[in-house]
Amino acid sequence: MPQYSVRLPDDGIIFLRDEGEGNPVLFVHGFPLDHSMWNAQMEFLSETHRCLAVDLRGFGQSSVEPGTFLMERMADDLAALLIALKIRKPVTLCGLSMGGYVAWQFWRRHPSMLARLILCDTRAVADTEDARKQRLEAALKLESQGAEFLADAMLPKLYATETRQAQPELIAACRAVMLANPPAGIAAAARGMAERPDVTAWLPKINVPSLLITGEKDAISPVEEMAAIAKAMPDAYQVVIPASGHMAPQEQPTLVNEAISEFLNRAKA
Ligand code: MLT
Repeated sequence: MPQYSVRLPDDGIIFLRDEGEGNPVLFVHGFPLDHSMWNAQMEFLSETHRCLAVDLRGFGQSSVEPGTFLMERMADDLAALLIALKIRKPVTLCGLSMGGYVAWQFWRRHPSMLARLILCDTRAVADTEDARKQRLEAALKLESQGAEFLADAMLPKLYATETRQAQPELIAACRAVMLANPPAGIAAAARGMAERPDVTAWLPKINVPSLLITGEKDAISPVEEMAAIAKAMPDAYQVVIPASGHMAPQEQPTLVNEAISEFLNRAKA
């Protein structure tokens, strides 16, 4: 399993797993996770595609920029990474939740590098004032206490009840990833998410073929909210994944892999 780090022109380091050959698919994880959330997709799709799963800056084995790290900067990191890797073909960008917030920015800032979008369990709206305040408080707490409290608060919201009951090892592995991430990096991304804009007005202009995947029981980006996003985009459709919460690619990997595979076949780059 090839994994390595790339130094970007601003000296940031991005760690990634890079497997397979063919049209590139770039996987962008959610908050506060790392590239390993895509393991099942990497294994399946690397048979037919070049699959790249990154640790965003601040996460996993990538470098940390403390303070506030905006979604725009994360998108620029991805563009710089593709340039460094000499990947000239426009990519399919597959982002979950925070990875989707980054995907909106990638479309806006690097359109010539984007062929298609796969948006998993994500939102187009900005934070409410209350959510923003909570994120900023969490960022401070992360810096002083570490990520334990965040893992306790987030895990029940990320996974469907049946997943938590049937796959305790998956939840334990996710918790371990959260606790291994550098708290200063998680805090910087939390502040970055608090600053993110409402992109609803962009949706009618995003005309790349797009697949929206939503766990049936997603409590963070509910089915109806993502259905409205798909409706507002000119070339998008939604697939709802049964028996799944916010982490559909991990909770129901076979169904998600099928949905992605069908999309990639029907919207050949
Ligand atoms: C994620 O899964 O990336 C988070 O739920 C995103 C968020 O907190 O808005």
